[in-house]
Amino acid sequence: MKRFVLAVMAVAVTFTGFVHSEDAQAPIRGIGGVESLRGASELETTRPADALKRFPRDQGTIDSDYVYQPPLVPHTIRNYEVSLNVNKCLSCHSWKNAKEMGATKISVTHYQTREGQVLSDVSPRRYFCLQCHVPQADAKPLVENEFQRVDALQ
Ligand code: HEC
Ligand code: HEC
Repeated sequence: MKRFVLAVMAVAVTFTGFVHSEDAQAPIRGIGGVESLRGASELETTRPADALKRFPRDQGTIDSDYVYQPPLVPHTIRNYEVSLNVNKCLSCHSWKNAKEMGATKISVTHYQTREGQVLSDVSPRRYFCLQCHVPQADAKPLVENEFQRVDALQ
């Protein structure tokens, strides 16, 4: 009888242990119903890359929305390298090349260090243009946007 009780207890322990561990290790599958505005895809699947955005050609410059805004890039920047050795942007936008390339010159601020010292070449803090300047595709906004320009620019 004692043996029987022990056996039953052992089975019971194993069983609850089994159920318990199954619970804890149950893999969390998929995205658990969470959907992004850009569309949903399960974590286990690799969805195809989005189509490349189309950048309108010849749109001239784009109006600013607030004072001191880094102007938006009105042209495509695909394959424009900005690295230690090359800065493609400056091949058109530097003071030396801008006129010939018909591009806007970078402004004086791009030659100033953060202490206000004016350098004879682009300041290192302005070297990585895309930190501040971004191209604009004619994309449909994901959410409604009621942003208004500041008065001075309306
Ligand atoms: C082949 C020459 C060329 C290259 C390279 C180039 N740009 Fe331009 N960019 C232009 C021209 C020309 C304009 C004037 C608007 C136009 O005609 O599209 C312009 C306009 C701009 C403007 C808008 C200026 C304003 O006053 O609104 C920004 C910002 C800009 N470019 C940033 C960049 C950045 C950042 C890069 C590098 C990733 C770059 N450009 C590379 C030719 C170039
Ligand atoms: C730290 C942010 C920052 C970086 C980095 C930066 N810019 Fe700018 N840029 C600005 C801001 C802010 C303005 C507008 C105010 C001003 O002129 O300083 C501007 C203005 C400009 C303009 C318009 C000038 C004019 O007279 O209307 C051009 C062209 C430009 N930047 C190109 C570039 C290029 C090319 C690079 C890379 C070599 C670059 N910028 C790096 C912030 C930045």
